[in-house]
Amino acid sequence: MSDKTDRTAATAPHPVLKKYYESESGRRPFVSALFDNAAQHYDWVCAMGSLGSGRFYRSWVLTQSGLRGGMKFLDIATGTGQVARAATRLLREPRAVVGLDPSAGMLREARKTLAIPLVQGIVEDLPFTTDRFDFLCMGYALRHVTDLGVAFRECRRVLKPGGRLLVLEISLPSSAAGQRVFRLYFERVLPLLTRISTGSAQAELLMKYYWDTIAQCVPSEQIIDVLGASGFTGVARRVRGGMLNEYVALKPAG
Ligand SMILES: C[S@@+](CC[C@H](N)C(=O)[O-])C[C@H]1O[C@@H](n2cnc3c(N)ncnc32)[C@H](O)[C@@H]1O
Repeated sequence: MSDKTDRTAATAPHPVLKKYYESESGRRPFVSALFDNAAQHYDWVCAMGSLGSGRFYRSWVLTQSGLRGGMKFLDIATGTGQVARAATRLLREPRAVVGLDPSAGMLREARKTLAIPLVQGIVEDLPFTTDRFDFLCMGYALRHVTDLGVAFRECRRVLKPGGRLLVLEISLPSSAAGQRVFRLYFERVLPLLTRISTGSAQAELLMKYYWDTIAQCVPSEQIIDVLGASGFTGVARRVRGGMLNEYVALKPAG
């Protein structure tokens, strides 16, 4: 763990993006409206963003990260339920999986295909008792929370001792050439494709915001530091294809 980590300071995942909202207090309402308004297009733009690999990847990474039958699973920031759906297939027990998201629009989409408990809420204030779940996943939402420390401490609270947190996130490729290609696709091509294919300015805005938050996100070292400072052990990061990040962290056993 870095000595430079200030364990008390708030850690926003990226600075205020004045292009979209004026101050820190504007972040949450902006993000909520963004997902509410683009919810019906999310699965389609997500498939374009991951070039169709998203469904396979979510299942695979849950298995690789140790999700097993008999576990109680919480999908934080479930959105339209893509991670929860993968977990339900793996666990074969719909009641073992709970989905949580603040966006009523995203939850409405999730309810169309998922028969699991779906709860409206935020990761910074989880509406669950302490020591409740064996496995938590937060997929592609780290960039949207207000404070990483608050979010991670809440995750640790609701995990059983020895339980596991998996955080999935996109980051810029490390090579300059990779960054140029990534930037061209995510900043220019994807928002345009989204606008053309959905006809929705809100879905286009979602993709523009997607790019800006990735480009401005705090470095992975800081995410790892905050996980450690939030009381997790065995914190590790795997990177696939230069940009798919998997942070795994354990709640101490006792
Ligand atoms: C990019 S979507 C990811 C959805 C899903 N996890 C997936 O893998 O496709 C991000 C989700 O994070 C949710 N979100 C935003 N702020 C949040 C917060 N503070 N706590 C929990 N979820 C949040 C949004 O409503 C949105 O549904």
